[in-house]
Amino acid sequence: MWPLLRRVRDRPCEFRPLAEEKKMLIGGKWVDAASGETFATIDPARDEELAQVPLAGQEDVDRAVSAARDAFEDGRWSELEPRKRAGVLYKIADALQEKAAAFAQIETLDQGKPVNFAIGEMIHSAFVFRYYAGWCDKIYGETNPTGTDTFVYTLRDPVGVCAQIIPWNFPLVMASWKVAPALAFGNTSVLKPAEETPLTALWLAKLAQEAGVPDGVLNVITGPGETTGAALTKSPVDKIAFTGSTAVGKLIMQEAANNLARVSLELGGKSPNIVFPDADMAKAIPQSAFAIYMNAGQVCTAGSRLLVEKDVHDEVVDGLVGAAGAWKVGDGLDPSTMVGPLVSTTQLERVTKYLEIGPSEGAELRLGGHRVAGEKGYFVEPTIFTGVKPDMRIAQEEIFGPVLSVIPFTDIDDAIRIANDTMYGLAAAVWTRDLSTAHRMARGIRAGTVWVNGYGGSDPGVSFGGYKQSGFGRELGVHSIELYTSTKSVWVSL
Ligand code: NAI
Ligand code: MG
Repeated sequence: MWPLLRRVRDRPCEFRPLAEEKKMLIGGKWVDAASGETFATIDPARDEELAQVPLAGQEDVDRAVSAARDAFEDGRWSELEPRKRAGVLYKIADALQEKAAAFAQIETLDQGKPVNFAIGEMIHSAFVFRYYAGWCDKIYGETNPTGTDTFVYTLRDPVGVCAQIIPWNFPLVMASWKVAPALAFGNTSVLKPAEETPLTALWLAKLAQEAGVPDGVLNVITGPGETTGAALTKSPVDKIAFTGSTAVGKLIMQEAANNLARVSLELGGKSPNIVFPDADMAKAIPQSAFAIYMNAGQVCTAGSRLLVEKDVHDEVVDGLVGAAGAWKVGDGLDPSTMVGPLVSTTQLERVTKYLEIGPSEGAELRLGGHRVAGEKGYFVEPTIFTGVKPDMRIAQEEIFGPVLSVIPFTDIDDAIRIANDTMYGLAAAVWTRDLSTAHRMARGIRAGTVWVNGYGGSDPGVSFGGYKQSGFGRELGVHSIELYTSTKSVWVSL
């Protein structure tokens, strides 16, 4: 029995022993690492070990990649009738939705996030599988105008074996964004979840197997990035899809060059959330708190830079300090919690370092600024820095914690200039009632997503990805077909 089963025994939840899910799935078999080595995944709210999972070494990575290769080459999945492939993905979606509450609690224990947010993420993940199930029989080609003595058409072939490496901030969501399109378009996958949060990805693999995904089509291996992840990146795969830090994204691109594996990268951000004086403050202020405190700020699209027009600066900051009060910090299993712990001691150290860097650069601490005292877990107070200059480190570097940097601006041009003054370009939001301001900002900001009068909208049908060092490639929506298929032109002489 897991320790967590005792801790949450009073909660109405369909916990399963999850015995198999603590092994890895390679070629349809639940296995330990060849070396027998394991590592601990930690409950960050209690600083306690949750479970030991296999530590995949080179041999395990090789076995997973060759299982995925065999499964791809013999067409057991890519040549399955599209409707049958869709049927399998629909079953995964249904199973995820049915088990959302139990999945959410596992996610909360492994990652720390508030369980009510986790449930939304589990349902979203089910929607992602359902959305891509719908794609299986809609992978159309074209006919091309070449003259009367030839007939040319295109086919969309799967790319092949996909290495998919994902982070710990939205573990199951990231797994679904990777696995669902890869499988829908006929590929096979070796998925490596983050070492901090391997559990829901393993359970997803179990559901996929039960839904009828053939052996070897989805393999899940667990282990640290520096060893397991790096070995996977060096493997003979056809594609690498990565979400994580910009630094590792660069390493992955270099490694991918050896096999000329195609690469898509979703990396970090320092997204500007921009409030104009004519904004509906009743929405802009609480949603600006949501933008930075959701998931304890561990969000690639976190609104970590609040750009406020100077005349409304004080009004907005005062409002935010009030709104932040609603973001109660605590154990994610408590349904009233809004901010859980950070995921790991590494992240705790990183974020608390920035809490020192802010004042040392001359920023003024308006709220929070400390690790929550007396807690074993990795909790940090919702924090606001004002008087932040665009060139300060807390305005340039991704903190990935509940830490907001407030920067004043004078007019639209100034707002666009500051918004774009970063190496990142993942997302942005604009708060205004003026249509012209909204659209000028949307056009001027160099980022893959711009929200107007809202923050954080995400849907399986809407493509997502970065500009600049936030990466390239568009996941979700219609554009994901570019990531997971190759176009073949077929020439027929008449
Ligand atoms: P990371 O980029 O090291 O980890 C993400 C994934 O990459 C994990 O599965 C990890 O095992 C794997 N990985 C790490 N090194 C690898 C390597 N050499 N080869 C192959 N795979 C490797 O991110 P980390 O260290 O967990 O977080 C550091 C910072 O990265 C965060 O503070 C945050 O700023 C940023 N980050 C951004 C994310 C996003 O959603 N864009 C998600 C996670 C982190
Ligand atoms: Mg963990």
